[in-house]
Amino acid sequence: MVRMKIPDEERRLFVKRAGAALVGAALYAPSLAAQSAAPASKEKAAEEVSPTEDLMREHGLLNRILLIYDEIERRIDTRKDYDPKIVSASANIIRKFIEEYHEKLEENYLFPRFIKAGRLNDLVQILLIQHAAGRDVTARILHLAEARTPPQRTRLRDEIHSFVRMYRPHEAREDTVLFPELHHIVSQHEFDSLGEEFENQERKLFGTDGFEKMVSQVEGLEKQLGIFDLAKFTPTS
Ligand SMILES: [Fe+2]
Ligand SMILES: [Fe+2]
Repeated sequence: MVRMKIPDEERRLFVKRAGAALVGAALYAPSLAAQSAAPASKEKAAEEVSPTEDLMREHGLLNRILLIYDEIERRIDTRKDYDPKIVSASANIIRKFIEEYHEKLEENYLFPRFIKAGRLNDLVQILLIQHAAGRDVTARILHLAEARTPPQRTRLRDEIHSFVRMYRPHEAREDTVLFPELHHIVSQHEFDSLGEEFENQERKLFGTDGFEKMVSQVEGLEKQLGIFDLAKFTPTS
């Protein structure tokens, strides 16, 4: 075995480099450990959607249909044509996903808790009245969806307008007043259980990824109307 003599300067450099590598490895190790733990906790976080986040996401979907309704209203006002099936498809999503699911969650799980706690009673009463009014308007929109004559389309336009006019303040009030207050009237355990219950209901009614499927349907309608491209909404100076 031939032992080579390493000059002192080179040895010092080697020790310095090796030390730096060890320190680097030590610093890197915890982040590696964190990385390997990350997917599991990320997955868990993705599964656990709080009940209010769930309802607010659904408001986001409702909002996208309100934007479709805005575009239909604009087309009727400017006498530009559109496929009537877009109106019926939008109103059916409102009926199935918002009125028969989202609003049922609010009516069955949220409103009774507020009434029992004696909190925001006046607001809850108005929200309930508006749910009923919204269902009536949706029934009329569905009835007029295929309308092609100008007088019928004017009636459809008025119904759509009244729907959008009511639901924008309705959902904004729920997002900013009702939902934040839920934390003050239920325990953390009850809050978490509500989230699980909402997920179960959604799965039962719409299968797995029910919300994602609805978003994809709405995207399809937006594309048909030419309002899907988000960049189109940026003002140009
Ligand atoms: Fe509501
Ligand atoms: Fe709502």
